[in-house]
Amino acid sequence: MADNVIICLTGTGNSYYTAIKLRELLGYDEVLPAPLVLDRPSVLGNPVRVGLVFPTYYGMPPKNLGPLFSNVLSDPALDRIEYLFAVTTCGLGPGYSLKICEQLAMDNRIICSYSGHVRMPDTYALLLKVPPEEKQKQIFDAADLKLGKMADEIREMAMRIPPYRPGSNLMIRKYIRYCNSETQPRITVDTGLCVSCGLCEAVCPRDAVTIENGHPVFSTNCENCLACYHFCPQKAILLKGKKPSLERYGRTLTGYNPDYRQGKL
Ligand SMILES: Cc1cc2nc3c(=O)[nH]c(=O)nc-3n(C[C@H](O)[C@H](O)[C@H](O)COP(=O)(O)O)c2cc1C
Ligand code: SF4
Ligand code: SF4
Repeated sequence: MADNVIICLTGTGNSYYTAIKLRELLGYDEVLPAPLVLDRPSVLGNPVRVGLVFPTYYGMPPKNLGPLFSNVLSDPALDRIEYLFAVTTCGLGPGYSLKICEQLAMDNRIICSYSGHVRMPDTYALLLKVPPEEKQKQIFDAADLKLGKMADEIREMAMRIPPYRPGSNLMIRKYIRYCNSETQPRITVDTGLCVSCGLCEAVCPRDAVTIENGHPVFSTNCENCLACYHFCPQKAILLKGKKPSLERYGRTLTGYNPDYRQGKL
């Protein structure tokens, strides 16, 4: 049974990279994909130390973080947890995501002992251009440095709570509303380009893609993480209301494995 585990939520692979890196630095036993843990909570076992690594979306955690606390981590059978840490990856800053995570933990009678953030390339292509490769490398180098320092603190089981931010309570309520709401996918598919490979369905962390008549259909379970957009090998997924662009966030630097959802890390 694994004593030390990291649960990873990711769309475009930055949090995947971060979770794997932290596992290596900390010598933790395994990284578990959040969709797998949500589907089969028993894969978590009964760990002693738990890390959560997740992206920041709109200054908040992804929708799957709420159920991870309320459906999985709140289980009284998980009676050995001594230390829980949370790390968010973000393009600019964590906004309220760590504060919301701390509150979700408290609501489920769990203490989140350590919170930190690391800047990674911003993959929100609806607003921002993917940084050029040279810039991406610089961001990864800086992230590696920061992750090394964070790992030293986590190894010592340091306490670090996210600083108070005005408006936190408002944002926590907003997050709960956001989790319970449907999201309009801001992506569409060019069926002429799509070759029905199914990768978009495989990488979606929200089970929001079904392949119908050979092409993806996006449901309101989507949270616009843009994994399918960035990873489609045909660049067949387009951003609604935007000119088609060839620019996508690759997988070379993150080493993201599209089989992630199946637990193949
Ligand atoms: C829908 C969406 C919203 C985002 N919102 C924010 C944000 O509010 N602040 C920020 O710093 N980065 C934001 N980003 C950038 C991501 O947090 C960043 O690229 C993150 O590392 C992505 O993680 P992932 O690759 O594991 O999915 C956003 C990205 C997406 C796709
Ligand atoms: S990843 Fe692209 S090519 Fe493959 S099924 Fe999805 S849209 Fe079609
Ligand atoms: S369908 Fe939505 S949630 Fe799923 S991968 Fe695509 S953008 Fe992300």
